[in-house]
Amino acid sequence: MPAPRTKSPQRLLAESGADREGHGLKRTMGLFQLVCFGVGAIVGTGIFVGLSDSVAQAGPAVVVSFVLAAVTCVLTAFAFAELGGAIPVSGSSYSFAYAGLGESTAFLVGWCLLLEYGVSVSAVAVGWSQYVNELLHSLTGLQLPAVLSAGPGDGGVVNLPAVVVIALAAVLLVRGVRESARATAAMAVLKLVILVAFCAIGFTAFKHGNLTPFSPAGLGGIGAGTTAAFFSYIGFDAITTAGEEAKNPRRDIPLAILVCIGVVTVLYCAVALAAIGAIGGGQVGDRPAALSHVVDVVTGSSVGGAVIAFGAVVAIASVVLAVMYGQTRILLSMSRDGLVPRVFEKVSPKTSTPVAGTLIVAVVFALPAAFASLDAVVNLCTIGTLATMAVVNVAVIALRRREPGLTRGFRVPLYPVVPLLGVACCLYLMYETGWTTWLQFAGFLAAGALVYVLYGRRHSRLAAAPEVTPDPAAREPQAV
Ligand code: ALA
Repeated sequence: MPAPRTKSPQRLLAESGADREGHGLKRTMGLFQLVCFGVGAIVGTGIFVGLSDSVAQAGPAVVVSFVLAAVTCVLTAFAFAELGGAIPVSGSSYSFAYAGLGESTAFLVGWCLLLEYGVSVSAVAVGWSQYVNELLHSLTGLQLPAVLSAGPGDGGVVNLPAVVVIALAAVLLVRGVRESARATAAMAVLKLVILVAFCAIGFTAFKHGNLTPFSPAGLGGIGAGTTAAFFSYIGFDAITTAGEEAKNPRRDIPLAILVCIGVVTVLYCAVALAAIGAIGGGQVGDRPAALSHVVDVVTGSSVGGAVIAFGAVVAIASVVLAVMYGQTRILLSMSRDGLVPRVFEKVSPKTSTPVAGTLIVAVVFALPAAFASLDAVVNLCTIGTLATMAVVNVAVIALRRREPGLTRGFRVPLYPVVPLLGVACCLYLMYETGWTTWLQFAGFLAAGALVYVLYGRRHSRLAAAPEVTPDPAAREPQAV
């Protein structure tokens, strides 16, 4: 059997231009901006909309579900941190798989990232549209007609607000990362403030009795709740897609990932406790816009609910922005490798952003946003994300063996126990998504394999210009 086509970290860096000043994307993001970017990608639909689902499964024990989902993410975050620091290019798990496991695995990882990033752009935009209507209703008593604010699956014709938020995100991203990062930072801070304010209000009405029974559906409920809660953590790895735009990627990318997961876990548990403590798990699990409802009940007025709905609109919009950014950078990396058409790698000299790639992503994922329902893609998004996370853990092990001398700003602790535990947790949560999702996922992977065989493999630049085994003394990558 021939050895897999792998690409050395040195080559990934050199091809990206990440080790050259004044070439390719601009290095504008510091630690604070990276953390805001991470929070922007993570906190959104999952806590504002999905909390009800997790609580319906696990009851007050949803707190345990959040912690278990966070543990899965932290185990894998170590792997992302090590690889993101060692190979600070914009392809995220795709580039890591290319270096650690070879081209065909990397292509399938990039393909799965279309679920985690691209499809979730559409899904999250649909969630945004629902909250825009909620906000309009709170402020004016009016709502957009269903025919213009929902896809056919939800009783409408076309979801215009979902298309609008994707178009707005595309405009910001095309204008350049500086403006996008500022907008993302402002939105991230605002939504953190809103969730903290929610906790402060919720805890004033906290009743211990609302936490019993703590785990009405037992361990099974906690397991199902963990898979549902996992969606609210999706996006933390987007930080690694900013590798080429970070000022000090080897130090700041690992740090930003760990800070983000820590902050959102504390916040999610506090939000869940505040909500359940105030009105009880039964009511929280029953209501899609549970946070607005809690505030309305506790304050006895609809003003608080409107403020929360506004927070949700802002939060979900920033997820669309961050996730779409990640998708364009992953396609840029795949394009550089010849595995997808070259249009995705073109960076405009005027804005230093991949303008054409951003516009294509916006148009392609606006279509499902216009016509799909919110729930339709969440499980597929979850299973695709977990699969790429499992591969990233394996890539850490493969790269430690292949490139032991590579400069790593961060190293996974307790190696190899931590990456192996990461793989096990990802596989368990994938199992929990159910066989229907597995079947859909298998079909999606089969389609990806076909695209690779018919296009990617034939246009691969690695195949056209294979790695030359270099002098080992010359393999240390340049500092960036
Ligand atoms: N974690 C992201 C959200 O909750 C996908 O919206």
